[in-house]
Amino acid sequence: MEGLVHEIEIRRAKRALSERKIPDEVLKRIMTAATYAPSCFNNQPWRFVVVNEKSKLEALHDSLAGGNYWMKKAPAIIVLATKPDLDARLSDRREYALLGCGLAAENLMLQAFKEGVVGHAIAGFDPLVVKAKLGIPEDYIVITLIALGYPGDETHLSEKHLALEHSPRQRKPESEVICWNAWSFPGKQVTGSS
Ligand SMILES: Cc1cc2nc3c(=O)[nH]c(=O)nc-3n(C[C@H](O)[C@H](O)[C@H](O)COP(=O)(O)O)c2cc1C
Repeated sequence: MEGLVHEIEIRRAKRALSERKIPDEVLKRIMTAATYAPSCFNNQPWRFVVVNEKSKLEALHDSLAGGNYWMKKAPAIIVLATKPDLDARLSDRREYALLGCGLAAENLMLQAFKEGVVGHAIAGFDPLVVKAKLGIPEDYIVITLIALGYPGDETHLSEKHLALEHSPRQRKPESEVICWNAWSFPGKQVTGSS
């Protein structure tokens, strides 16, 4: 859409990754961008493990759900972890650690795209395996793994993933997710406050 920040417009969760190493200076810029995300009281609740050593990458492969086979080509995987007490926990279930991590993850992926590197976050992994392989304490939440890699060969992709690779952006109509000036979505409303 015309007028959007270019990286927001072009970022896609691509799966065809090259095994080509990402230079450390590029990885460092991507990680610094992640840390520039805003957070509640500037608490910076994100904790990242940058994994780019072959043996550690292979260890992480054991955690991946079958449908995330494509991620085994990634020359770097970012593990993003947090725990609720690293950030504000306010009334009405507001757990800001998770929001902060989301903001950092998006910064990371946008900087990656600016560097010509695909950044693809996943939820399809076993967090207990990730914790065991990397020595992450039990009380942390491993919220996502982010594959990083230069665009690569598509031939190993499943038919479904190959089609997705070239599909147009799929989004709900804005009227389903954005309303103006008053809540217009379904749900029981709070009464009694002015
Ligand atoms: C929290 C999160 C979890 C995701 N989990 C997976 C996953 O396990 N496997 C996968 O292939 N893609 C995963 N994705 C990628 C989404 O499917 C993708 O972002 C979505 O379809 C929209 O496509 P786009 O990012 O190209 O606009 C995940 C994305 C996010 C943000």
